[in-house]
Amino acid sequence: MSETWLEGRVIENRRWADALFSLRVEAPRLSFEAGQFVRIALDQTPGDPASRIARPFSFVNAPQDPVLEFYGIVVPEGPLSPRLARLAPGDALYVAPNPAGFLVLSEVPDARSIWLISTGTGIAPFLSMLRTDAPWKRFEHVVLVHAVRRAEELVYQELIREIGLERPGLRYVTFVSRESPPESHHPKPLAGRIPAAIRDGRLERAAGLELSPGSSHVMLCGNPDMLKDAAAALAERGMRKHRRRTPGHVSMESFW
Ligand SMILES: Cc1cc2nc3c(=O)[nH]c(=O)nc-3n(C[C@H](O)[C@H](O)[C@H](O)COP(=O)(O)OP(=O)(O)OC[C@H]3O[C@@H](n4cnc5c(N)ncnc54)[C@H](O)[C@@H]3O)c2cc1C
Ligand SMILES: NC(=O)c1ccc[n+]([C@@H]2O[C@H](COP(=O)([O-])OP(=O)(O)OC[C@H]3O[C@@H](n4cnc5c(N)ncnc54)[C@H](OP(=O)(O)O)[C@@H]3O)[C@@H](O)[C@H]2O)c1
Repeated sequence: MSETWLEGRVIENRRWADALFSLRVEAPRLSFEAGQFVRIALDQTPGDPASRIARPFSFVNAPQDPVLEFYGIVVPEGPLSPRLARLAPGDALYVAPNPAGFLVLSEVPDARSIWLISTGTGIAPFLSMLRTDAPWKRFEHVVLVHAVRRAEELVYQELIREIGLERPGLRYVTFVSRESPPESHHPKPLAGRIPAAIRDGRLERAAGLELSPGSSHVMLCGNPDMLKDAAAALAERGMRKHRRRTPGHVSMESFW
């Protein structure tokens, strides 16, 4: 049976750096919860649905925003991402009608602090959540953590600053792993990787908050190795993976 696709049209392709882009797309209204993803697709041969290549992308826009937004990186050898990065305003993009995913706040048990911890493009679902009221209604403290290779990949600075002005409860911690963290960035990025900073207490110090099973729920998104290593570092603190049947303290979504 052939799949149903919605036809969207690109209205903006913002280039943050050589390999980083954000697409804003006009498409029929979709119903989803912040944190979810949807498959987007292009035809390798224009007009030939048999050549369609689809990949899941997390929404960056809030559910109430009618314009869809996706944040991506070019994986040079990948079949879809280099072509998405080349899209121009007016170009067509297919969008699946059925958003999905469990990295959502409605699946998270109550806690004092919510830690939204990401690598690379894994920040996308957290930006969507931060654009809604839910985190601020449910949690006393909201921490956004973003780890990237180079400082230029610390994207969406303006948006994060605006959200921080509106919501003084937001704490923002960044990591830059492959160059000296620049002094000019505010807050000054930490060096190295997230799991080491969980173990040695640098992440808690940077956020000014305790990270413990009694106070916190952690959401992890991005590189699967980060998910595995961070979950192991959190397990050493007594923080278990969250499941509907066996509630815990850590939820996660792997991007590959
Ligand atoms: C639930 C879910 C949500 C996702 N949301 C996003 C998103 O919001 N933005 C986004 O850019 N990607 C996202 N992805 C990944 C995306 O679906 C594609 O895999 C990615 O765009 C590369 O597509 P490709 O066809 O070029 O290469 P693929 O054949 O899909 O991937 C080739 C290889 O590239 C690497 N890779 C894939 N995705 C990434 C990435 N995001 N960052 C770094 N390396 C990667 C992996 O090593 C992978 O094996 C998500 C994946 C899942 C499962
Ligand atoms: N980033 C770029 O400049 C760039 C440019 C062009 C293309 N690409 C393509 O994009 C893909 C990589 O994307 P990316 O740079 O967003 O993703 P990434 O490799 O996941 O790196 C993002 C951050 O995650 C960290 N990380 C990696 N493994 C980890 C682990 N086990 N535990 C904790 N942290 C970990 C990295 O630290 P480390 O630095 O220590 O690994 C880095 O700080 C590749 O396919 C590449 O070809 C990237």
